[in-house]
Amino acid sequence: MSDPGQVHIQWSSRLMFVLAATGSAIGLGNIWKFPYIAGENGGGAFVLIYLLSIALIGLPIMMAEVLIGRHARRSPVNALRELARREGASGLWWVVGFLGIASGLLIVSFYSVIAGWTLAYVVRMAAGVFNRVTAEGADSIFSALVSDPERLLAWHTLFMVMTTLVVARGVRSGLEQAVKILVPALFLLLLILLAYAWQTGQFGRGVAFLFTPDFSAITPAGVLTAMGHAFFSLSLAVGTIMVYGSYLPAGISIGRTSILIAFLDTLVALMAALVIFPIVFVNGLPVGEGPGLVFQTLPIAFGQMPGGIVFGTLFFVLLAVAAWTSSVSLLEPAVAWMVENRGASRGNAAVWVGSLVWLLGILTVMSFSDWAFEFEFAGKSKANGLFDVMDILTSSILLPLGGLAVVLFAGRVLSREVVASQLGGRGGFGFRLWYLVIRYITPLGMLLVFFRAIGVI
Ligand code: TRP
Repeated sequence: MSDPGQVHIQWSSRLMFVLAATGSAIGLGNIWKFPYIAGENGGGAFVLIYLLSIALIGLPIMMAEVLIGRHARRSPVNALRELARREGASGLWWVVGFLGIASGLLIVSFYSVIAGWTLAYVVRMAAGVFNRVTAEGADSIFSALVSDPERLLAWHTLFMVMTTLVVARGVRSGLEQAVKILVPALFLLLLILLAYAWQTGQFGRGVAFLFTPDFSAITPAGVLTAMGHAFFSLSLAVGTIMVYGSYLPAGISIGRTSILIAFLDTLVALMAALVIFPIVFVNGLPVGEGPGLVFQTLPIAFGQMPGGIVFGTLFFVLLAVAAWTSSVSLLEPAVAWMVENRGASRGNAAVWVGSLVWLLGILTVMSFSDWAFEFEFAGKSKANGLFDVMDILTSSILLPLGGLAVVLFAGRVLSREVVASQLGGRGGFGFRLWYLVIRYITPLGMLLVFFRAIGVI
């Protein structure tokens, strides 16, 4: 295949990049997934390992992706192929970009179904269904939704249409404007919810659960889950951040910008967990509830607090929007590739990719009812069939592998001159620290986690 060269436009400013990347990073991963996997893995020790993974693995890889994208100014497949060619490295690096596209599409296929749940909850909230709801009531409303494939399919379809529309129009018009208001609004609502969680009387227990590490509660597979989730939450290893980086104007600090994005992302995850666990404890709910956790706990809080209908509706609207900006970013690598290599218009590319993902989503739609099956993974029982399989396959296997490939590419394939020029000079302390981390600490850390998880060491 020949190299199509540079065909895309750039972000209008640093702020736009920060908004788009933060909008991509903050999503269901922070508010829906982080709390339930922290709950399943015993809390404190898991959270600590997650924070370490963000700092020592996620952040350096985010910087690597942005610099690769910006240096090549191409979609991930072509960026890796072209930069490898310039360095005289293997002609097969594009395969990594391709696997990234595949993992991204797999992720968004189940992501969209869960985002559909949040849309369904907007309607239920607004209708007052959760007024004074009990824990049992919330549980049965959730079960009724997920065991109804037709409903799930309808919401999934709506969400994929929303996503495809934005991608078709291009990220610049519309999306950027929306995130500017909605990300701050999400923070504000989380603060209101924190105030509610505070007065439940179980806030201290929530804090203790999340921040007192009990290493006996964590397994090697739990460590892998934490690391995989760091990739998931920062939108790494599928080409999302790389393709967003390829639209980043020159002269903007990659290090400082990445730190900001990673910080905001982590803050939202911790805030969400600090809201949810006090509610879990005060209602005597199990912490290891799985994917339903957020949908079964927060409605109880909203059902009790003054103005709960309004706050609750707003909350699920914002969660849907957070998921929207993330799912858009999951389609972007595939769409950018089709525009570059197939000469497709953005509109056509978006419709093709969106339709494929919609179809794949049916696997998840059916996972909570007719096609549900149970299995054991790393000592934990999983009840939701193919949904769990795709989740484990992507977060625990494909994302870490893709991340490792990025690490090796930035630290060992690209020349020091290239990375230094993107990161603002080879002499600085920041650059030298990053280079040390990406060449030694990150790859060794990842291999250690991997081999431990599969029981080799
Ligand atoms: N980071 C998003 C979240 O936490 C999901 C997401 C967007 C993503 N783009 C990604 C996950 C790329 C993995 C890879 O909800």
